Amino acid sequence: MVGVKDRVVVVTGAGGGLGREYAMLLAREGARVVVNDLGGARDGSGESTAMADQVVREIREAGGDAVASYDSVDTEEGARAIIGTAVAEYGGVHGIVNNAGILRDRAFHKMTAEDWEAVLRVHLFGSYHVTSAAWPYFREQRYGRVVMAASTSGLFGNFGQANYGSAKAGLVGLVNTLAIEGSKHNITANAVAPMAATRMTEDVAPPEMLAKLPPEQVAPLVGYLLTEECTDTGMTLVAGGGTYYRVQPFQSAGLRFEQTPSMDDVAAQWHTITDMTDATPGVNPVG
Ligand code: NAI
Repeated sequence: MVGVKDRVVVVTGAGGGLGREYAMLLAREGARVVVNDLGGARDGSGESTAMADQVVREIREAGGDAVASYDSVDTEEGARAIIGTAVAEYGGVHGIVNNAGILRDRAFHKMTAEDWEAVLRVHLFGSYHVTSAAWPYFREQRYGRVVMAASTSGLFGNFGQANYGSAKAGLVGLVNTLAIEGSKHNITANAVAPMAATRMTEDVAPPEMLAKLPPEQVAPLVGYLLTEECTDTGMTLVAGGGTYYRVQPFQSAGLRFEQTPSMDDVAAQWHTITDMTDATPGVNPVG
């Protein structure tokens, strides 16, 4: 049986929605869970200890082991404090789920620099800070599991989500490099793009669709990625409504010009360059 028993796992943004489901499942499976949540509103305003406390209470009532953390992921000090809670309470950290997130949707022509920064700060910088704080422990113990909350918005784009999609695509980029750098230390990093009915999606998708996307259906995939048995790394997966699949970039066969082409040459060959008929999984030519 695959498992997370006695593993110390930090779930950021675990005071509600998907993070709560991740924390509850991990605790049921015997992990010791740091339930981190700033306790703010969907747009990132405000804060409260109530959300994290409530989830910790529920986990303990069900016989699980959890501790609350209220620090924000979006600063280096906050992230250090979150990982510090795991180390102080449970003596270490084995896995992290970078799940905390906010939303400031706006069409690009109306988006302010503040909307842009606020979203990147929590999702991309926050995931960086928390992972960076945990990384020395992972290297030292030669074991670590990192899961990033990505999004189909980052993979495919979505109207009004230039800030959010950029942050989420950035996390896929971060996973790609962490997978390479972590491999010799037995550290894996994977990205999960969830689809679930939460406060984040309540007015983004139609109610009939949301009814088919209970957040608990995403949790087993995230849980599996946190087990020692799962050694796959650098993957991006989509999970929602009981459907799980992997997404990966492919590259066309393309063509090679013997001499520097003119723009007209490019135009003439455009179809061949972009034709995906014989596409193969993408590789980094300098990797
Ligand atoms: P949610 O709004 O219920 O959960 C996000 C949690 O993060 C909240 O509890 C919030 O208080 C917390 N949070 C926000 N800023 C924080 C900070 N600076 N420090 C610590 N905690 C903070 O939304 P949901 O849907 O559960 O989202 C979880 C993750 O999954 C997010 O990263 C989201 O972008 C991602 N996601 C969700 C999708 C969905 O269909 N629900 C789709 C794609 C991605």
